[in-house]
Amino acid sequence: MSEQDSDAQPVTVYEAVGGADFFVALVEDFYSAVAEDPALRPSYPDDLSDAKRWLALFLIQYWGGPMTYSEHRGHPRLRMRHAPFVIGMVERNAWLGHMTTAVGRSGAPIEARRLLDQYFEQASLAMINQRL
Ligand code: HEM
Repeated sequence: MSEQDSDAQPVTVYEAVGGADFFVALVEDFYSAVAEDPALRPSYPDDLSDAKRWLALFLIQYWGGPMTYSEHRGHPRLRMRHAPFVIGMVERNAWLGHMTTAVGRSGAPIEARRLLDQYFEQASLAMINQRL
């Protein structure tokens, strides 16, 4: 199919990275670092399984895959869902550092990586709910 075809669709990030398995692996790598981080670990429950599952499903949905996250959780309302946790610049930077590392070694194509990095940088700022 040439790029001139009228039914040519832009490729989503979800497609570009190869689908759901990519996000499951990304989240697994990310959470293995969170689990070892004293600035972040106390905010999370002992069992990280649900946190992993929801984050992977959210990212799959956000980047153009199936809407399974919202079928279970409704509208993401991520800022509201993060309100119970203390998220200042320190926590945000720790979170973003682990996610950027995970994205960096994920094997995603460069353009997808750029979009993921850009998104996480901005979205993690929006999660801040403390001045300190
Ligand atoms: C780009 C930024 C972020 C995204 C996309 C994101 C996404 C998510 C998602 C989808 C969930 C699960 C929501 C649900 O229950 O349905 C979640 C939970 C959570 N997030 Fe984030 N988050 C971000 C930043 C942060 C930051 C900066 C922190 C810092 C501490 C954080 C801490 C948590 C905690 C503690 C939970 C609850 C886990 C649980 O109770 O199982 N998040 N996040």
